[in-house]
Amino acid sequence: MANVTVIGGQWGDEGKGKVIDWLANRADVVVRFQGGNNAGHTIVVGDTTYKLSLLPSGVIQGKLSIIGNGVVVDPWSLLDEIERGRGQGLALTPDVLVLAENATLVLPLHRDLDAAREARAGANKIGTTGRGIGPAYEDKVGRRAIRFADLTDREALEGKIERLLAHHDALRLGLGLPQVQPHELLALLLDLAPKITPYVKPAWKVLGDAVKDGKRVLFEGAQATLLDVDHGTYPYVTSSNTVAGQVAAGSGVGPKVGGYVLGIVKAYTTRVGEGPFPTELSDEIGRRLGEKGHEFGTVTGRPRRCGWFDAALVRQSIAVGGVEGVVLTKLDILDGFTTLKVCTGYTLRGEPIDHLPAGLRDQAALEPVYEELEGWSGSTQGARSWKDLPANAVKYVRRIEELIGAPVVLLSTSPQRDDIIMMRDPFQG
Ligand code: IMP
Repeated sequence: MANVTVIGGQWGDEGKGKVIDWLANRADVVVRFQGGNNAGHTIVVGDTTYKLSLLPSGVIQGKLSIIGNGVVVDPWSLLDEIERGRGQGLALTPDVLVLAENATLVLPLHRDLDAAREARAGANKIGTTGRGIGPAYEDKVGRRAIRFADLTDREALEGKIERLLAHHDALRLGLGLPQVQPHELLALLLDLAPKITPYVKPAWKVLGDAVKDGKRVLFEGAQATLLDVDHGTYPYVTSSNTVAGQVAAGSGVGPKVGGYVLGIVKAYTTRVGEGPFPTELSDEIGRRLGEKGHEFGTVTGRPRRCGWFDAALVRQSIAVGGVEGVVLTKLDILDGFTTLKVCTGYTLRGEPIDHLPAGLRDQAALEPVYEELEGWSGSTQGARSWKDLPANAVKYVRRIEELIGAPVVLLSTSPQRDDIIMMRDPFQG
């Protein structure tokens, strides 16, 4: 039995939540290894809709759920989510939920900085989720972050606050923000400590023991490869590595533990926030995709930008992300289109190019090259077997497989948990 790592293959919002929930059912342990509460997973089980942001999706099934050191955690947001989950009947005890002692805290000053920078950036803004994710990661690599282990050591905490504020005071002064009072931040953190520390553990050890015991682990990625800080459409990206290579560093296991890498890919393309998007449709078709696909951000409620499937981008995501098989989601949103277009590559200033170049101006100048495919009039919604799919829908999936160079191993046909067609069990490797 292999472990499985799930990552997004486009710009996020590919429907990872549902797939992760489905896989979590088959796993013993679920681990988050990057990102923070910029992520938003919606999981529909019968009449109940769960909206998870920091909690690993394993909590819905009561599986051991680990928030790894690679995650930046807003502890107040996490406590709210725990409360909400309990209200929906989830057993969120420290036996189920483990928070890495070496994970970084997202503080109110990180949100302030995120908002102030975005407000000042004008046309250059990133379009962040405003959750303070970027500033928290900056403090982590700047070696001035407060980590969960610090909460139980008042003396160390005072020193860390001093070091942190020496940096933030200067920034806040420049941005016209009021200074943070060290004693107020200390009081806030000391108040937080008893509420959060029951969950705080050496997560690498808890996970390592589970792996030694032969438990099946699901690594749950947030955001997606094109939002990766190295491989995405930089600077219009998030501040963490979202590729499968991050599993090891972000949870404290060896590079082979991540197992089979599953990329989640939507049957068309969307993105929230700013940045290049070669197949974006600013016309009636784009609006139709957005309306039918309910394309609004889970975290911010912003309408998502929509466009045709971009096979060139996904091909690149598969290569840099280490993806072995793909889950294709939201095929049903394409039901009823007479013709569908798929981008197979680009031209850049008249020259053919088969990948996304790293330069921002080049990315913005790409002209997609399209292949047209016939649509289908029947419905794919809720299909649970290949036989239920219209012939042209099968052709669409097969052509995508050829163009991206990876097999579609699962097909998701509605938001409902069991509306899935399985070609191959990812846990079998
Ligand atoms: P940040 O992660 O809040 O700094 O936002 C940086 C970029 O990543 C923005 O374009 C966000 O819209 C995007 N982003 C962050 N998290 C998600 C997500 O979970 N889904 C889709 N886009 C996201």
